[in-house]
Amino acid sequence: MSQAAMKGGDVPRYTAGERANHWTVAILFILLTASGLAFFHPSFYFLAWLLGGGPWARILHPFLGVLMFLFFLFMMIRYWDENKIQPYDREWGKRLADVINNRDHNLPEIGKYNLGQKQLFWVQVVTMFLLLISGIVLWRPYFAGFFPIWVVRLGAVVHAVAAFVLILGIIVHVYAAFWVKGSLRAMTRGTVSHAWARHHHPLWYRKVTGGAK
Ligand code: HEM
Repeated sequence: MSQAAMKGGDVPRYTAGERANHWTVAILFILLTASGLAFFHPSFYFLAWLLGGGPWARILHPFLGVLMFLFFLFMMIRYWDENKIQPYDREWGKRLADVINNRDHNLPEIGKYNLGQKQLFWVQVVTMFLLLISGIVLWRPYFAGFFPIWVVRLGAVVHAVAAFVLILGIIVHVYAAFWVKGSLRAMTRGTVSHAWARHHHPLWYRKVTGGAK
């Protein structure tokens, strides 16, 4: 690792571009969740104010959805390889009791992401594609007219189920970001401490530091 990258004794994890990309997706996700829930049930209708009330929420929601998908595509391509599940991840997953109780010596060394993060990544990939495809099928007045009504109805169910799964996934993602102390700064400042990297992602730590202990 270069001296510049190690400035301040920290380990770089995300560039400024990656962080801007991530937070753009996160903000769009919040706006889409709020407006989507407003369409889903009257008890959530008040959330439409975030996009300027009901009519504006209805107009903007599909466009913001396409934008979120496009920004997510960059993340998907960038993190694809690092999220491939390896044999050591499966082994790590079998020893969750050791993970929770901090018994690191019992755990196999893992790379940049752990099994839970990787599984969540693939949930994000699948649900993003489902949301895009079903969203286009549902999109009146531009596209819905091209499909038979049963396809549009099926699209509505797929859209709601995919959104539900993604929202649950992101709740877990945000909880984990706060729960694992020292993770949040990876996406705010862009760096993590040596201790954090060594403790949570030893294989990745050795790769980026060129074998440092
Ligand atoms: C809204 C609040 C959110 C918070 C507080 C948050 C926090 C974080 C943090 C701290 C990391 C770094 C984890 C690490 O490097 O180990 C991260 C990574 C990541 N986040 Fe988020 N995030 C949020 C929303 C989202 C949303 C809405 C998405 C996508 C739908 C998303 C997708 C990702 C992805 C793909 C990564 C890369 C790690 C991986 O591949 O698992 N995040 N996030």
